[in-house]
Order: sequence, then C-alpha cells, then structure tokens
Amino acid sequence: MKIIEIENVSKTYALKGKNKGASVKAVSNATLDVEEGEILGLLGANGAGKTTLIKLILGLATMDSGSITIAGYDVVRSREKALANIGALVEAPTMFAEYTGWENLKYYAKLQGGNISDERLKSIVELVGLSDRINSKFKSFSLGMKQRLGIAQAIMHKPAILLLDEPTNGLDPSGIAQMRELFVDLKNQLGTTIVISSHMLSEMQQVCDRVAFMAKGEIKSVKTMEEVNYGVDTFRKFSIECSDSLTAMDIISNQGIECKKEGEALIVIANQAAIGDLVTSLVNSGINVYTVTKIKRTLEDLYKEVSK
Ligand SMILES: Nc1ncnc2c1ncn2[C@@H]1O[C@H](COP(=O)(O)OP(=O)(O)OP(=O)(O)O)[C@@H](O)[C@H]1O
Ligand SMILES: [Mg+2]
Repeated sequence: MKIIEIENVSKTYALKGKNKGASVKAVSNATLDVEEGEILGLLGANGAGKTTLIKLILGLATMDSGSITIAGYDVVRSREKALANIGALVEAPTMFAEYTGWENLKYYAKLQGGNISDERLKSIVELVGLSDRINSKFKSFSLGMKQRLGIAQAIMHKPAILLLDEPTNGLDPSGIAQMRELFVDLKNQLGTTIVISSHMLSEMQQVCDRVAFMAKGEIKSVKTMEEVNYGVDTFRKFSIECSDSLTAMDIISNQGIECKKEGEALIVIANQAAIGDLVTSLVNSGINVYTVTKIKRTLEDLYKEVSK
C-alpha cells in the first residue's frame, strides 16, 4: 500500500535581503510514492531539494502546487490527521538548552498526550545509546548526542512513519552502525515506514529498500536495492581473470569495450549479453579464462551515473 503519495509537487522560495525579488525553485514537479513498511532513501547533492521535500511532507513548508497525502489524508486539508502518525527529525532538533536530555524527552512525551511511560522513554534512551548522558544538560551535548536525542524524540510515540533528514549527521562510526540497526529493527519489528535523506551512500545501500535520486529539485530516478546492486541496465561491470591479461586487454579494447587492469583481474564494462562472445574471442586467441564475475555495483557508482 502506498502510505505517502507525492504528486507533482513544486516549491519556490522567494529570496529576501539583497536578493529580494529573485526566487529559487527548491522542488520541481516531484512525484514519488512511499510504500508502507519500506525504508526509502532520498539522495542528492547539497541543495537538491531533499530537506524541502521532507518539510513539504510535514507541512512545515507550503507547496506552490501539487498534492501530498499520508495514509490517504491530504497534508494541507487534513493536516492533523495526516501527521498524526509521523515522527520526524528535520535539521537540528529543537530542544531546551538548560533542560537535561531526559527533561527534554519528558516535555515532548507530555506534548504527545502524556501517555508515554517512563519505562518506554528509558528503553528508547537505551535504544539510541544515550543512557550514560541523558541526565546532562542539552547544551553540554555533542552534535552526535543531540542527534540521538532528536531520534529518540522522533520515535517515542511509535510512529507508523518516520521522516529523518540526515539522521546520522555528526554520529561516529559506531553511532552510525547503531542507527542503521535501529532503523532496520523498527522496520522489521514494528513495520515502521522510514524515509531517510542522507549523503552516506554505503549506509543507505545497507539499509534502504529503494532509493530516490533528486537533482535540482526533481526526482530523477527511483530504484530498488536489487536494481542498485546488480542493475537492470544493460551495461554492467565484470571482473575477468585470465592468462596473459595484457593481450586480453588489447583484444577487449579493440572491440571498443571499456577495459582496465585491476590487480590480476581485468575490469570490463560491457553489455551483459555481449560477455559470452567476448569470452569466446579471448579463448579463440589462446587465452585461458579462469573466472568471469559480475561485480556488485555500489550506490556510489550509481550516484555518479545518475548525476551525469
Ligand atoms: N528557507 C529557504 N529560503 C530560500 N531558499 C531556500 C530555503 N530553504 C532551501 N532553500 C533553497 O532551496 C534549494 C533546496 O534546498 P534543500 O535544503 O531542500 O536541499 P537539500 O537537498 O536538503 O540539501 P543538503 O544536502 O545540503 O541538505 C537550495 O537551493 C536552497 O538554497
Ligand atoms: Mg538538507
């Protein structure tokens, strides 16, 4: 089921100050569906429009045109119902500097209607790895600790949908791994639908079911992780191990196929259907072909291709 439906959404910011009169199209005709229970990654360069799109979903920015529905509710016309089941972390979380981490969480728990028990809050503090410092004042928190507290606030009411804008920003490698596990747990155990914007491509490759690429406000491409890893596109990367690799490289290059040597192996970018013929031509030239392996594409490779 489609739990978020974004249809033809555009957002232009009017600039202020000395650029008054000019405007920036932050999101342009974006159409994107989020399936219930999936983790969707929102990728794109700085300024691509990821944060703006998340703000539009949350009704924190007003769209010029288009529509967004959450669980069937329009975010503009039925804002309260649409947002009832969303937890979000957008930019730096708003917290009280003089309150401790715990006091901040208690404050937000009260805003939620006060039916979140201390036990639940404690377990969430543990989940995000903040137990040691939860009684320190927020102003003494490091960037990563603030981020963890923001995530705790976002998930405290067990939202059906989580929108996270660069949630691992400022986290150390173990914190990043912890968050990855947390997101996968939330998805697997509670069926939470999660939308994450991030620049951490290897993390996204591990955690997402699908990724959407944004550039200049547009959704350029949406791919499942299966498509990211092995591609449906015809041109794929192969590693060939063979005897006399220098001669083999010449033979392959002479066929107009991209080929380079990496260690003992030849890395070939070729049409999958042409690989058989290519191997035959090597064998016919007296070369022993030991292995031909399809190489798993990294999200980084794909990102480069899409950004071209
Ligand atoms: N409040 C605002 N006023 C004016 N322009 C804005 C505002 N917010 C965003 N923009 C512009 O809209 C465009 C999209 O910005 P946005 O923050 O959505 O990008 P992003 O993909 O989240 O980038 P990043 O990866 O750096 O977080 C940029 O050109 C940005 O300068
Ligand atoms: Mg952003």
